[in-house]
Parts: sequence; C-alpha cells; structure tokens
Amino acid sequence: MKHIFNKGTDSTDLTLLLLHGTGGSERDLLPLADVIDPDANVLSVLGNINENGMARFFKRLGPGVFDEDDLKFQTKELNSFLDKAAEDYGFDRKKVVAVGYSNGANIAGSLLFHYSDALAGAILHHPMVPLRGLDLPDLTGLPVFIGAGTNDPICPPEESTELENLLSEAGAEVTLHWENYGHQLTSTEVQAASEWFAAQKNRLD
Ligand code: MLT
Repeated sequence: MKHIFNKGTDSTDLTLLLLHGTGGSERDLLPLADVIDPDANVLSVLGNINENGMARFFKRLGPGVFDEDDLKFQTKELNSFLDKAAEDYGFDRKKVVAVGYSNGANIAGSLLFHYSDALAGAILHHPMVPLRGLDLPDLTGLPVFIGAGTNDPICPPEESTELENLLSEAGAEVTLHWENYGHQLTSTEVQAASEWFAAQKNRLD
C-alpha cells in the first residue's frame, strides 16, 4: 500500500498508524501525529480504493452502505501490510496504535472487529459500526478513544454508542468523547484525543 513512514525518536517504539477519510491522502493526518505523539514512529497509509478519484480504504455501495466483502478483504490486506511494514522498517508490530478519521476510522474499527492483536490501541474519529453480526475477538484491556458528534449526519449518536458497547463487550476500554458538532474533526476533539493518549502511553509501552 502507498504510504509514508517516519521513524520516531522514542525508545518506546510506538507506531501511530494514520488512516485518512474519504477523498483524503496519506499526508492528511500527519499534523495529528505531531499533536498526539511527536516522538512516535508514523506510518500513514493511502487507501487502496479509488472512488471517482477519491481514495478510500474499502468499497461502498452507497453513502454509509458498505461493501462488506470488500471491507473484510481490505481489512485483511491492511493487517498483512502492517506485518510486512513492521519487518521492513523494524518497528514493534505489537505497538501499533491506529489514528483514523471517518472512512479510516471505519477500517481501523474493522481491524479491531477481526483481530485481537492487529492494534495495541485506537483513536477513532467519527467511526461507524463497521460490520454487524460478528463475534468480536478478545480485546481485553485494549484502549480505544472514540470521538463522536452529537449532530453527526453520517454517524448518528446511537451508532457511536452502539460501537462503544460492542467494543466494551469484547473487553476494550473505551472512552467516548462527544463534540456538539457534526462529522468534522475539531481541534478540541484532537486535543481530547491527545490528552487521552498521554494518559494511556505508559500502558501502551
Ligand atoms: C464510510 O464510507 O466509510 C463512511 O460513510 C464515512 C465516509 O464518508 O467516508
């Protein structure tokens, strides 16, 4: 997968996996990594799907209606890519923390829904429930931050709460942060995510 890798300066060897929203690129979320942890490794990936010129991480059948077969396929592809990137760049595969927005948060959520060990933690900005009817793997103790909007037309508040419940039932330690806005990523949400990350960092080491 097309990507940017920036080696960090931190002995903890955490890697932030940046996953952009629909129509974004692997450059979009680089400023977030600087806010969340300027010392971590950064692996920022471009989605494999081209939807009328807009990059995404998996196909959709319509707005908010996912192509579930493709979502499953692309989730596996991304997980394999992480295995390979860890070998190529020499980072610790067990210390990858996803930072995703919208479509990128949805594939990060799908990684959590499919694998117990794909991610060490996740910051999900405006995620949806990626798939329903799955038995989730054991996510005991895995820290997850969900940033949600009370007026988000793409992900209504009930869906944010549903995702929180599904992940919590699988054992994840979920923090649900609300903003009184829509689907956009606000600076206060980024700040809340970075404070959450700072509080988790010792556990992620
Ligand atoms: C998706 O397709 O992943 C969601 O609808 C969010 C987005 O618009 O990208």
